[in-house]
Amino acid sequence: MLQEQIKSHGCLDVEEDPQSKFCDSVTTKPPVATLTAALAQKSGYPPNLVTLWPRLAPLMLKFTRLWPLVALLLLQACSSLPPETYAPRLGQMGKDVMWLPTRDELVTQMLQAARVTPDDEVVDLGAGDGKIPIAAAVQFGARAWGIEYNKDLAALAQRNAQRAGVVDRVRIVHGDIFKEDFSKATVVTLYLLEELNAQLRPTILAMRPGTRVLSNTFSMGDWEPDQVIRAGTNTGYFWTVPAVVQGRWAVQGLGMAKTAVLSLAQKHQRLGGSLSLDGQVQTLLGARVDGADLHFSFVNAEGLLKSVKAQVNGTVLQGEVTGPYGMVDTQPEVVTISGRRLVN
Ligand SMILES: C[S@@+](CC[C@H](N)C(=O)[O-])C[C@H]1O[C@@H](n2cnc3c(N)ncnc32)[C@H](O)[C@@H]1O
Repeated sequence: MLQEQIKSHGCLDVEEDPQSKFCDSVTTKPPVATLTAALAQKSGYPPNLVTLWPRLAPLMLKFTRLWPLVALLLLQACSSLPPETYAPRLGQMGKDVMWLPTRDELVTQMLQAARVTPDDEVVDLGAGDGKIPIAAAVQFGARAWGIEYNKDLAALAQRNAQRAGVVDRVRIVHGDIFKEDFSKATVVTLYLLEELNAQLRPTILAMRPGTRVLSNTFSMGDWEPDQVIRAGTNTGYFWTVPAVVQGRWAVQGLGMAKTAVLSLAQKHQRLGGSLSLDGQVQTLLGARVDGADLHFSFVNAEGLLKSVKAQVNGTVLQGEVTGPYGMVDTQPEVVTISGRRLVN
């Protein structure tokens, strides 16, 4: 298994690039360091903004043009850490799986596939040096956290977040992915192993419908991915946690009869089932669930194709039915529907 993980990462390449690009970029001194030093030298103060502050404050009030400079210096002060001395070893063993970083290109492509935004809370299970939470914050403005079992790696990841200037949005927890509660996250990333994904799958499937899940290299067994992401020789997978919709629903608004009965069978995002409507039972067409969104089509009593899109929220659903499409002169009417889950 560990061999598989090394192979999946393309360790030859990794050897050439033992630190991620992220680490390279954060250890490069930004030009503002020179500015701080020069200012400190002139004023006779050490390059520490806390001590510069009493002198800067009156100046700031007088010269508002200094404000951007002060903001830059503040940023520098927040992220100033001594050069990193801890260098984790590629392949060093963690609790359940070794440390190997996901390649930068795949990190970006996975977060793009999940359409991460500043409204998201991203969690990386087994965060290593923190590169995925940091990328989520730096590139996508998200709040992000990571759970890392190895104490030194967790501390390094937190320092990396500080160096990247995103401590306000990134938090690394030293803990065990099987013990920490990550149920509130909206995006989950993993680079673990097939069997660890299998162990985590029930927890992930119990998360809020619509939660996006990304895994480097390893699949989720028979939960087929919504998207396969290729980045060079690396492969990532993307899933959306589906709402649980299987069972029978009483739905109003679908036809002439007051209530139709919708029966759904479900395997993750794939659905099958039938609709009992206006005295006829018919097989659903193209039924699927995408997060909390339920979609299916059916043929009504007049032989017209109708399409349903509804949002499922626990035991109720709300949505609309429309169609048929392709009429030349008339737009299909949109009718609101609602439903509730039937017990048995
Ligand atoms: C393959 S690395 C992935 C690192 C990072 N997620 C990335 O993609 O760059 C897996 C990480 O999981 C950590 N790990 C292993 N078992 C763990 C556990 N039970 N809880 C938390 N972290 C764990 C390892 O220490 C290692 O850093």
